[in-house]
Amino acid sequence: MIIIICGSMPKLVIIYGTGSHNTERMAQAIEEGARAEGIETMLKNVNYANRNDLNDADAIAIGSPNYNHVMMPTVQKFLNSLADVELAGKVGLAFGSYGWSLEATEGINNKLASYGVEMIKDLNIKRMPGDEELELCRRVGSLLACKIKNKEAICVA
Ligand SMILES: Cc1cc2nc3c(=O)[nH]c(=O)nc-3n(C[C@H](O)[C@H](O)[C@H](O)COP(=O)(O)O)c2cc1C
Repeated sequence: MIIIICGSMPKLVIIYGTGSHNTERMAQAIEEGARAEGIETMLKNVNYANRNDLNDADAIAIGSPNYNHVMMPTVQKFLNSLADVELAGKVGLAFGSYGWSLEATEGINNKLASYGVEMIKDLNIKRMPGDEELELCRRVGSLLACKIKNKEAICVA
């Protein structure tokens, strides 16, 4: 007997804004960590993203650096555009690079939580991520992958 199991692979969608590539480096490392766990990923700069990109996502990671005590306007606009997208029950992460304050990731977290996304702890890296920080980003990518692969499992970063 041949049994064919249909079903799509769990998917993580990562969308980020960046001014000088620090948050972009974080985004790439999060993707690396998730792919190492064998899940499907999509990585996009917010300038090329649209709300339909999230339709088949099981987890979403939204990133922005902190500029002038807020997230980038492009990321804010993208988040606002999600108001009528069904996001409840997806797993979420807010991440970003900062210099001295954390309003950008706090803002992303609050907005996604208000849409019913199950947020994990924010990932904040000061300025340019070095090797250790990139490894932390990879671990968080793996954590997201674990959460959507094994919904009942206890996943640790
Ligand atoms: C004009 C300007 C304003 C900034 N404002 C803030 C701020 O309000 N809070 C903060 O923590 N960092 C601030 N920063 C620092 C950036 O968040 C930091 O350089 C970050 O690494 C940029 O990330 P990116 O390379 O992804 O753009 C500011 C930087 C610039 C150039």
